[in-house]
Amino acid sequence: MNIYDVIKKRRSVRRYSQESVPEEKIQKILEAARWAPSWVNSQCWQFVVVQDPKQVSRLCKGTIEQYINAPAFIVGCGHPESSGKKGDQQYYMVDVALALEHLVLAATAEGLGTCWLAGFKEEYIREVLEIPANYRIVAMIALGYPEGRGEEDWGEKAKQRKPLERKPLSDIVHRDRW
Ligand SMILES: Cc1cc2nc3c(=O)[nH]c(=O)nc-3n(C[C@H](O)[C@H](O)[C@H](O)COP(=O)(O)O)c2cc1C
Repeated sequence: MNIYDVIKKRRSVRRYSQESVPEEKIQKILEAARWAPSWVNSQCWQFVVVQDPKQVSRLCKGTIEQYINAPAFIVGCGHPESSGKKGDQQYYMVDVALALEHLVLAATAEGLGTCWLAGFKEEYIREVLEIPANYRIVAMIALGYPEGRGEEDWGEKAKQRKPLERKPLSDIVHRDRW
């Protein structure tokens, strides 16, 4: 798959098979995350890979999307003090998001499903995973093989046989000035 195919194949997957994700694939997608750009190359990120079924189950209790039955989660954390700030804009969020999206696209290329999750209780997840107080939890990525592995398992909208809507370029692109 070339990069454009990977980008279009990625969907938010919310139903997973319980087959565990091979360590080799975990390593490959973490490697992709590691090469993301970041504020002055500060690489303020840390990733917690959660595969122990007891920890996965505890983690799910701290998310709004408790129905997501992924066998693994990757929790992306950022160290705000190591990244940049510009007024009220904190770039650790951008750094960690870029790394996680590298990881998500690499996972797609590896035949894995993912789902970004921001609907979690930060302090609960911090306690379960023993994340230090000076790190913020930016997002969790659910990870695993889509249930059934068929195209119909690549997301809710795909199930309804509807293409996922995106705004047309004409609504979102400006040239030379807004
Ligand atoms: C920052 C962020 C947070 C998200 N949080 C959640 C979430 O908590 N629960 C969920 O089911 N999906 C979550 N999503 C997935 C979006 O709902 C999904 O990307 C969007 O509907 C487009 O669908 P697609 O990913 O299949 O293209 C999140 C996505 C992003 C980028």
